[in-house]
Amino acid sequence: MTTSQAGGRTPLLSVEKAAEVRARFGTPCYIYDRATLETTARRALAFPAPYGFTLRYAMKANPSRGILAVFRALGLHVDASSDWEVERALRAGFAPEQILLTSQMPSRRIAEHVRRGVFLNACSLHQLEAFGRAAPGRAVAVRMNPGLGSGSTKRTNTGGPSASFGIWHDYAAEVKTVAARSGLTIGTLHTHIGSGTDPEAWKRATRMTLDLVAQFPDVAVVNLGGGFKVGRMPEEPSVDMDEVAAHVRGELEAFRQRDGRALRLEIEPGTYLVAQAGAIVATCVDVVDTGRDGYLFAKLDTGMTEVTRPSLYGAQHPIDVLATGREPAEVVFVGPCCESGDILTPAPGDPEALGPRWVPRPQTGDLVVVGGAGAYCAAMSTINYNSYPQAPEIMLEPDGTLRLLRERQSLDQMLANEV
Ligand SMILES: Cc1ncc(COP(=O)(O)O)c(C=O)c1O
Repeated sequence: MTTSQAGGRTPLLSVEKAAEVRARFGTPCYIYDRATLETTARRALAFPAPYGFTLRYAMKANPSRGILAVFRALGLHVDASSDWEVERALRAGFAPEQILLTSQMPSRRIAEHVRRGVFLNACSLHQLEAFGRAAPGRAVAVRMNPGLGSGSTKRTNTGGPSASFGIWHDYAAEVKTVAARSGLTIGTLHTHIGSGTDPEAWKRATRMTLDLVAQFPDVAVVNLGGGFKVGRMPEEPSVDMDEVAAHVRGELEAFRQRDGRALRLEIEPGTYLVAQAGAIVATCVDVVDTGRDGYLFAKLDTGMTEVTRPSLYGAQHPIDVLATGREPAEVVFVGPCCESGDILTPAPGDPEALGPRWVPRPQTGDLVVVGGAGAYCAAMSTINYNSYPQAPEIMLEPDGTLRLLRERQSLDQMLANEV
């Protein structure tokens, strides 16, 4: 029986496999499914770009070496968001020239990156000036804010006037002036308008990005970022990649007709590649209620420590109680932290309110699986709050074996840097 047959929506794991995870590695525990990772990556690699294509993995979504290894083997390149991620990608075996650094934080290692061949994306005029000083005469990318943003929530919107990401589109002339001062060539133009973007906004941003490209005669590569929406809950829509790809193809062909340039396309999804390939195996550790007019709460041993997204911006994740023969009940799932915001089921669209779910009535000791946990969960966890150790990560191999990627953190590791 799969967990979805047990009343939930995370068909990644059978009940038996979830039990095996708990028996061997304890809970809470992240688990990733290699077959799903590979299938999704192959689908993205087939993006029908007319004049060349590079698929970058936005490793901020999940920088586990085990996942990087899967994507490296399939030929993906990397979008790194800090000097530290560049280093992790290099250690995972990516070649420097496969890595594009797009960082909010001005890099402190520009000269080293340039020497090694890591490609730099200037996200502000200040960054562009610094690149020019460190590597005059080089080709660089610039990240522009096309003037439009979209995300699954306002907190995941990275474009438009309320976003600090990239260089505002009106400043194209300033970009050219700064680049010209140190002989930089703007070879790539990059935009990324938000995580979990509305596909229609994404399409509009494509046109706005190409209008910007038209102002930069040396641009040969256009990078349209990530942001392909994945509905983790069944009622949430997911991007239709074929439709987006057909649209982008048409835009690139039309651009060639009016401008003459055949642009190479890059995209850099994070969520799309990993979100549905991950889950958290957890245990129900207590069940409490607040009376007849109150709520029934299931306390899990996972919460904001492993999956911060519900607390941070009200994200919805499927939750399966792996129990049969129980009456259904309306349940609010909470995490183990002494923090009222440690809620796994905020109300959809209203992160301040509680969103009970109908599930088999939980009991202490039940196995529970939180789905859609491959992206921005292990990567964004509030490690060690209440001194809970960082959870282990496991790869479910296609032959059914469970491979340990990262052990559970020990208390000594938690305290190692205290002097
Ligand atoms: C520059 C950049 N590219 C790609 C991504 C990946 O976005 P998503 O995970 O929505 O595909 C992000 C996410 O924040 C980003 O900032």
